[in-house]
Amino acid sequence: MYRLFVATPVDQLSIPVVSARGMHSHGDRETQLATMRTFSQESWITRGEIGYNILHYDHAVAILRDKRWHSAIGLITEFNPDATPEFRARRRESILSAEGDTHVRLRRLIGPAFSPRNADALRPFMREVVEELLDTVTNSGTADVAIDICNPYPIPIICELLGAPRSDLALFSRWAGDILRVFDNNLKNDIPLITAAQDELDEYTRALIAKRRSEPRDDLLSALIANEEQGDKLSTEELVMMVEAVILGGTDTTRNQLGLAVALLANQPDEWAAIARDSSRAARLVEEVMRVNGAVRATGRVASIDIEYNGVLFPQGTLVFPSLATANFDPAKFRDPELFTLDRNDANSPQLTFGAGIHYCLGASLARAEMQEALPLLARRMENLEISGPVRYKVATAGIYGPESLPVKFTPNPSRGHCAT
Ligand code: HEM
Repeated sequence: MYRLFVATPVDQLSIPVVSARGMHSHGDRETQLATMRTFSQESWITRGEIGYNILHYDHAVAILRDKRWHSAIGLITEFNPDATPEFRARRRESILSAEGDTHVRLRRLIGPAFSPRNADALRPFMREVVEELLDTVTNSGTADVAIDICNPYPIPIICELLGAPRSDLALFSRWAGDILRVFDNNLKNDIPLITAAQDELDEYTRALIAKRRSEPRDDLLSALIANEEQGDKLSTEELVMMVEAVILGGTDTTRNQLGLAVALLANQPDEWAAIARDSSRAARLVEEVMRVNGAVRATGRVASIDIEYNGVLFPQGTLVFPSLATANFDPAKFRDPELFTLDRNDANSPQLTFGAGIHYCLGASLARAEMQEALPLLARRMENLEISGPVRYKVATAGIYGPESLPVKFTPNPSRGHCAT
């Protein structure tokens, strides 16, 4: 009955400490990431202010796949001293925070709607949206890619997917931007904006669901309403939660990831020219961009019970942060990880920016399709792209990160049309 306890309690490990305090600028953020990557040569784990960073690919994946570790998304506000009790009380379960049978059921009911096939069906629409956005800038030869292209791009796609009218684009954009401030570590200022946006989105979503119940159409929301598996259906509350998860999960992520991609490719002129000529490179390009410069650098897990892992005891309640951005540079998985190259044979080690395990990004096929369609068109119509001024990034602590302003100049190519494959 007695067990010899050999695992070392995590707080007794002698491991490097990485602090996010004093991280203000883009440079600070890059330095912190470089420090983590350096520490990863000597340790798979570092200590942070409120938990432990997991640095190696295999350990990050193992923890994300281990059901004893639960999503820590619901704890974001718990650990924020600026969150008021009223703000904390507003927290609701979402697919991101659900675990166990509840989560399995949600993924079973919702997952099929996010299949690669359904994402592919939206590709012509995605191209149309990108072309329209490019039409507004390609005469001048200058643009702010973040503001003119990346920010607006995902919203019509999400509206089309859900079956929301395009006239509501501006509303969606504002709600998504404001609600996602919860990740930006600036709650002191942001609570009023976040709660107002949550309330407005809630009211809007309920009205849209009611409309689709009485007038079903060929869209995701109608499909989710009709979806019936062995007599199981999503309740109205679950539908509201899902629509909101799609709006929130599907906008800021894609727009920031596309902005990071363009910022990176502006310094890779040969690749920019190559993708303009040959869109069949797009799939590999998107994976490598996301490996090298992912918009989501880490995610959080909390120990639901005492967990022994890799000789370490993590008491119940311990927080860990699998560092996707450090794992994406793990030399055990990616040869010459600093090198940006499309010639990777990473079938056994996909880039981790979409996460892993049961919470693996539901919208990954959609996001991939959006970027695979956008990048060749941008490269084709913005030839010889160069960054033409200071790039301004989001606050350094932002959970979903990317450029807020990305000024560029280029040789305009006004003619529409997809490049050869
Ligand atoms: C490049 C763009 C995107 C990135 C980098 C990204 C990243 C991620 C990551 C890392 C997770 C897992 C979080 C965790 O394990 O804690 C996740 C989950 C999720 N994503 Fe994405 N995402 C992107 C686009 C999208 C899109 C387009 C949608 C929806 C249309 C979406 C919807 C979701 C949802 C609903 C979840 C929760 C899944 C679950 O808990 O089962 N994401 N995403």
